[in-house]
Amino acid sequence: MSVTTEMTRWCVGGDFEIDAVRTNGPERLVDLLGGTGSFTASGRSAFGRVLAHLKAIGVDQIYVPSFLCESLLQPIEALGMEGAFYVVSPDGSTSDRPRAGAVLVIHYFGWTNPLADELAADPEVILIEDFAHVLPGSRKPVPGANRYVVTSLRKFGPVPLGGWCSIGHESTQVSDGMEAAYLRSIQARLQRGAYLADRSLAVDESIESNYRRELSDVETFLDDHSVFSGVPEEALGLAASLPWERIGHRRRENWERLNQALSPRVRRLHDELPPAVVPLGFVIRDANRDRLRRRLATRRVFCPVHWRTPGAVPDQVVEMNWLPREGLTLPIDQRYDASDIDRLASEVERASE
Ligand SMILES: Cc1ncc(COP(=O)(O)O)c(C=O)c1O
Repeated sequence: MSVTTEMTRWCVGGDFEIDAVRTNGPERLVDLLGGTGSFTASGRSAFGRVLAHLKAIGVDQIYVPSFLCESLLQPIEALGMEGAFYVVSPDGSTSDRPRAGAVLVIHYFGWTNPLADELAADPEVILIEDFAHVLPGSRKPVPGANRYVVTSLRKFGPVPLGGWCSIGHESTQVSDGMEAAYLRSIQARLQRGAYLADRSLAVDESIESNYRRELSDVETFLDDHSVFSGVPEEALGLAASLPWERIGHRRRENWERLNQALSPRVRRLHDELPPAVVPLGFVIRDANRDRLRRRLATRRVFCPVHWRTPGAVPDQVVEMNWLPREGLTLPIDQRYDASDIDRLASEVERASE
């Protein structure tokens, strides 16, 4: 056991622990998501489900944005389809829009990407709209004949497994491996929750690396099952029972407070919060992003990078968007109150010096 005595367990960021009590079934989720469709184990397998459908009707190629979560490339490869990148700017816009065929559009960080409506109006395009960064219930997707929707239920709360796509309504058998992945994820989150419960205790690196490894193994398993994997019903019950509306309010409050504290000294992706948006995080820009991230981690502030550029993206595309090189997402989620946000702001200022 390795114990770091000079630090306490207080931290910002990292993975969610399970703190929800089941009160509702998947019906509430259907209501939040705005229609019938299929539940899947993850967002990537919801995308895989739509891709499998498109492949069955003769579509072999899919355009994806140059800025994306690498896990979305898994089902394309697993199905033997051809992926092509179109270039997007940090706000999601493009001057390189595909004119025909199947196109994935992501609503980044909770903001509406206008490209989706533009493409939906084009009869030559089959649109797949990714709502993973949109809080369930905050904005209803509108699927249509050539407009498919996919989402993940795992980005805004402690949901080990859960994704959804707007096609089909079948319930898929859940494999033993997926059940095991679900239990493993819960176990790791409970371990983390128990460990963090007393914020004044010393850091124990062996416990931290253990739950992090378990959670990372679950992600690898999901990568390996990226085409329409069924989801245990308890996982959906967990997602259904979350106080989504309260989550949205707190995130907006936290975002506004951090924005006030950091502006104008820190460069930000967005400088205001439109009424309908629930932010996934607070995205800042720093030329020394990786150094800033390391410095914050030594102060127990753990920030994700959304996202590094996948190796498959061609070099000439890489320069067009600063987010993969300089973007850092500060956590503003519902686990934090005003005093946490104030502390986060001062840690960011100190680490940026
Ligand atoms: C925009 C977006 N879509 C889909 C996914 C995949 O979701 P999941 O992790 O549930 O497979 C991610 C993952 O982070 C994502 O950011």
